[in-house]
Amino acid sequence: MAKQRTLYVCTSCGGTQSRWAGKCPDCGSWDSMEEQKFNAGAASDPHRGLIEGWADTIEGAPRAAPIDEVSPDPAASRRLPTGIGEFDRVLGGSPSDGMGLVPGSTVLIGGEPGIGKSTLLLQAAGGWASAIDPKRAPDWSRRVLYVTSEESAEQVQRRAARLGIAGEPNLFVLADTNLARIIEQVRLVKPAVLVIDSVQMVYKSDLDASPGSLAQLRRCAQELVYLAKASGTAVLLVGHVTKEGQLAGPRVLEHLVDAVLYFEGDRFHAGRIVRAVKNRYGTTLELGLFEMGGGGLRPVSNGGGASFDDGTPRPGSIVCPVMHGSRCVLVEVQALTATGFLGAAKRKSSGLDTSRLAMLIAVLEQHAGLRLADRDIFASAVGGVRVVEPASDLALLLAIAGAHYRKAVEPRTVVIGEVGLGGEVRPVSQLEQRLREAARLGAKRAVTPAMRGQVKIKGLEVVEVRDVGRGIEMLG
Ligand code: TYD
Ligand code: MG
Repeated sequence: MAKQRTLYVCTSCGGTQSRWAGKCPDCGSWDSMEEQKFNAGAASDPHRGLIEGWADTIEGAPRAAPIDEVSPDPAASRRLPTGIGEFDRVLGGSPSDGMGLVPGSTVLIGGEPGIGKSTLLLQAAGGWASAIDPKRAPDWSRRVLYVTSEESAEQVQRRAARLGIAGEPNLFVLADTNLARIIEQVRLVKPAVLVIDSVQMVYKSDLDASPGSLAQLRRCAQELVYLAKASGTAVLLVGHVTKEGQLAGPRVLEHLVDAVLYFEGDRFHAGRIVRAVKNRYGTTLELGLFEMGGGGLRPVSNGGGASFDDGTPRPGSIVCPVMHGSRCVLVEVQALTATGFLGAAKRKSSGLDTSRLAMLIAVLEQHAGLRLADRDIFASAVGGVRVVEPASDLALLLAIAGAHYRKAVEPRTVVIGEVGLGGEVRPVSQLEQRLREAARLGAKRAVTPAMRGQVKIKGLEVVEVRDVGRGIEMLG
C-alpha cells in the first residue's frame, strides 16, 4: 500500500501546507485549512496513472533552446471555430488567422446555476462537430464528446433536439462521473473537443476524498489538463460559481487552465454575456453577447443593451457607445437623484465605477454649479454590461445632470467623452468606430469631445463640446 501523506489545503486559495494553521499563509483567509490525505507517490506525479497509453504520443523530452530557435506550435495556429461568432471571438484569435478554441488547450467556463452554461456548451459542441473543416485540418477528428455529469444522456439528447443539433453524427454524449471511465471513452472516441459538464461532479475513485471536494477537483482538473496537452484534444470544463461569484475551488482551477471564461447575466432577463478573465491565447477584452430564448442562445450581433426604439425623451438616461475589445456596444447609463440628508447622502452605482461616480459628482458641483450635497444619487448601466471605461464619463455626468434638472437629451442621441477634474471634456480612443456603430444602430446625433481630425458620418449630426458646461447645454 502506498504511503499516505497528510497535507493541509486552503479551501480559499488552494495553497498546501504541511502543518495546519488558523490563517492561511498564502492568502490570509482564516479557518480555511482542510486536512487531506494524499497518496505519497501519486502526489509527486499526479499524471502517473494516466501516462501509460498517452506517453507514446509525446515525442521525446523537451529541451531548452535559444528563444529565436523556438519553432512555432502548429496546433496553436489551427483553431477550432464553433461557427458561433460571439463565442469564437471570446475564445480568441483573429478573423484572418481563424478564431475559436486552440487544440490541446483547457478552458474553464464558470457561471451561476441555471444561467445557461449547459445550453451554450451543447450549442458550441454542435457547432464544433459540424464546423471543424476537414480540409483545413485533415488530421483532426471532427468528433466532439460531451460528458454530462449532472444530467442523463437522454436529457441532453432532448435538449439537443430542441436546439436543432440532435442529428449531428459527430456529437457524442456520455453520462458519467468517474474520471477513469471518462478517459477510457476519450481514448475510444478520440474527439477533437471534450466538454466536461460539470467538473465539480467528476471524481477519481482512487482518491480518498469525497466527490466535489477540493482535492478531487484539483486532481481531476490536473489530469484533464494533462490529457489535453498530451492528446491535443481541447478540453472545456464547466464550473459552478459560489454565492460570492467565484468559481468553487477558487483559483485552484484558474491557475491550471489556459483560459477562464465567465458566463453571466441576469436570470430575469434574456441577455447573457460571455467574457474572458484569463486567456493565454487571446485578449480578455472581448465580449460575447447572447439572448436566451425558446430555441436556446441566440447571438446578439448588434449593440446589445440599448436601443432607440421609442422617441420619448427620458431625463436621467443617456446612451453611450462603449468599447469592449474590438466591438462597440451601446449601453444605456441611467441616474436618479432623490432627496437625501446633508452629510449622509447615498451614492450607489451598479455596473459602473463608484469612485468615478464620486468624481463626476464633484465635477458637477465645482464646474457646473449643481448642488448635490443633500441629494441621494443612484446610477446604473442597464443590461448587465459593466462599464468601466473613462470614455463613458460624459454620459454618466449628463445622466446625473439630466436627472437633477429633469431634462433629457434629444431622442436618438449618443454621448461620449472622458471628463477631467477641471471640467474639460477629453478625447477618447476609437471615436470614429464608436460613432459609425452608433449611426448604424440608429443614432441621429452624437455629443463628442472636440476632434482634431473631423469625422463625418452620413446621417449623424456631431456636436463637439469642450467642457461639461457646454455638455449640459445639450439637455433641452
Ligand atoms: P442550463 O443550460 O441548464 O443552465 P446551467 O447549465 O448554467 O445550469 O439552462 C437553464 C435555463 O435555460 C433553464 O432555466 C431553461 C433555459 N432555457 C431556455 O430558456 N431555452 C432553451 O432553449 C434552453 C435549452 C434552456
Ligand atoms: Mg448545467
